[in-house]
Amino acid sequence: MAEETKVSAVRKPKGWLLFTANFIKHPGMIGSVVPSSRFLVERMLEPIDWDTARHIVEYGPGEGIFTREILKRMRHDAELVLIELNADLAAYLKGYVTDPRVTVIHGSAADINKFAAERGWDGVDYALSGIPFSTMPEGLRREILSETRSSLNPGGKFIVFQFSNKVFSYLKEVFEAVDKGMEFRNLPPAHCYRCSTATPAEA
Ligand SMILES: C[S@@+](CC[C@H](N)C(=O)[O-])C[C@H]1O[C@@H](n2cnc3c(N)ncnc32)[C@H](O)[C@@H]1O
Repeated sequence: MAEETKVSAVRKPKGWLLFTANFIKHPGMIGSVVPSSRFLVERMLEPIDWDTARHIVEYGPGEGIFTREILKRMRHDAELVLIELNADLAAYLKGYVTDPRVTVIHGSAADINKFAAERGWDGVDYALSGIPFSTMPEGLRREILSETRSSLNPGGKFIVFQFSNKVFSYLKEVFEAVDKGMEFRNLPPAHCYRCSTATPAEA
C-alpha cells in the first residue's frame, strides 16, 4: 500500500550511511553501494527543458542526490513526485525534503499512472530512473516500462541510468527513440539512456 506525505526544505543528514546500510540489507533493490556522482547527475538532467517541465517524476531517489539538483532547477510552479520502494529511504526523504513542490511516495514505479492520476496530472513530462532493472523480475521490468511509456506526455522523456546494458533491448521494444551513452565518472560507470515516444527524426 503506497503512503504519501507532502513535505517542505532540503537538508542532507546521514543520507549516505542510510543508503549504504540499505544496500547491505537489500542489494538487489538498491543496486549500488554509494549514491550517484555529480557527473552522472549532470548528464541525467541535461536533456530536461526546465522552462517547460511541469510534471516530473523520479523513480528510486535513494537519499536524494538527484532530487536536490532537480529542486534547484525546476520551475516554481512545477511538481516533483518521488517514488521510492525502500521504506527506510522513503521515510528519510519524507523527513528532510521540505519543498512544497515535492510529494514523496513509498511505493513502486509500476504505479506511476495511478500516482499521476491522483494528482490530477494530464501526464508526465520527464521521468528519471536509476532503479535496477537488471535484477528485478522480467514481468515487473516490462510493467514499469510500459506504464512509464503510457504516462508520458507528447514530447516527454524517460531518462535512465543502469550499471549493465541489459535494459537496452527492453527500452527499444517500448520506446520509439532510445539514445544511449556512458558516464565513466561514476562508481561504477553507468549506462545512460534517453527514451522518447517521438520518432528518431523528431527526438
Ligand atoms: C541505484 S539506487 C539509485 C539511488 C539514487 N537515485 C542515486 O542515483 O544515488 C536505486 C534506487 O531505486 C529504488 N527502487 C528499486 N526498485 C524500485 C521500484 N520498483 N520503484 C521505486 N524505487 C525502486 C531503490 O530502493 C534505490 O533507492
